[in-house]
Amino acid sequence: MKPADLDALWMPFTSNRHYKASPRLLCAADGMYYTDDSGRKVLDGTSGLWCVNAGHNRRPIVEAIQRAAAVLDYAPPFQMGHPQMFEAATALAGMAPAGLDKVFFVNSGSEAADTALKIAQAYHRVRGDAARVKLIGRERGYHGVNYGGVAVGGIAGNRKHFPVGLAAVDHLRHPLDIDRNAFSRGEPAFGIELADELESRIVTLHDPSTIAAVIVEPMQGSTGVILPPKGYLKRLREICDKYGILLIFDEVITGFGRLGAPWASQRFDVVPDILTCAKGLTNGAVPMGAVLVKPAIHDAFMAAAVGERAIEFPHGYTYSGHPLACAAAIATLKLYRDEQLFERSAGMAPAFEEAAHSLRGAPFVKDIRNLGLVAGIELESRPGEPGARGYDVFLKCWEKGVMVRFTGDVIACSPPLIIDSAEIGRLFATIGDVLREIN
Ligand SMILES: Cc1ncc(COP(=O)(O)O)c(C=O)c1O
Repeated sequence: MKPADLDALWMPFTSNRHYKASPRLLCAADGMYYTDDSGRKVLDGTSGLWCVNAGHNRRPIVEAIQRAAAVLDYAPPFQMGHPQMFEAATALAGMAPAGLDKVFFVNSGSEAADTALKIAQAYHRVRGDAARVKLIGRERGYHGVNYGGVAVGGIAGNRKHFPVGLAAVDHLRHPLDIDRNAFSRGEPAFGIELADELESRIVTLHDPSTIAAVIVEPMQGSTGVILPPKGYLKRLREICDKYGILLIFDEVITGFGRLGAPWASQRFDVVPDILTCAKGLTNGAVPMGAVLVKPAIHDAFMAAAVGERAIEFPHGYTYSGHPLACAAAIATLKLYRDEQLFERSAGMAPAFEEAAHSLRGAPFVKDIRNLGLVAGIELESRPGEPGARGYDVFLKCWEKGVMVRFTGDVIACSPPLIIDSAEIGRLFATIGDVLREIN
């Protein structure tokens, strides 16, 4: 099943030259496993790319997409609609943290982030508070690759090639503190004072009347599984409330059961004003994202627009609420409920935590961080070659039939929520074996 030629494709976030010299081709998938081009089964320790939470090729989702494709290929979402668009929004709002019940559809996590930032700025403007334009992100934050997301994001490597698009941006420090919190289980004990910086440093420097919103991932996934210290997110919420700043949670990774609760907002008991999601929304089967907002935000746009025919928010995508994506989302959300997969995630979390932390003491392991069904294993970097050891672990695990993710020298594990105990054992045992083999 190898393609005849690999040359034409410029692959995203990939070492193209290295990959093409020795390609890893995923040709089919089922449940917890991929099948590669040689017919070998590979255990999926990453839910694809943090998105296949219900496991691969689930029949109810596949069939819903097939049925939808045969009935309505496409419907424009501007000034028109189709039934599944409304049904999907209702289903998502019904599953969302209480109070977030207006849904705007997009096609990816990146679009969700940029849409959320635009909603935040426009919200203040429609309320007559047009000076509130500044956006506060966080170091090591990832909000996708569009200009807004990169500007509030904090991954140096993603920023350095571009003039970072938005002027009115500042960043909080990230809360990773291995010296004080190494090998924490769940939320680390130390670091709540980093949330206080929002008030003591950022608000003081910029003046709160200029700040539109703070955007954070409740757990920073892409830069190596960085958990919020105890009380940190509540403190951010309090400071935002005090100064009229909107709080945006990017739940593109943490939504849909990843942290042992339906949403990180519920896991940490903090409700944002705006929440973004994608990935698990359709179990990865069709690209889709969404921005959920409190009714007061939505209603401010409706109230401000002059005349019934005015477009209240001039924003949207050709494929917002695409029929296939909506069919996939409706089937996915039903499957999560029918199989109680978020409860299952919570139930498996203790075994997952034990297995992850069993790697403490293995060669090069400097820290292990975990919550729900996500774990990050941070390795000592090879001198002068940051990321090389992580890459080696990823390649060797693949050779042994297990797919993990690496980000720098952090190995991230985030399997489908259907994983069983034996598969959890195999996932971490394989990483342990590899750590003993590499240099
Ligand atoms: C927190 C977060 N936001 C946004 C994105 C971007 O999502 P997408 O790749 O669908 O644009 C990601 C992707 O991993 C993410 O983890």
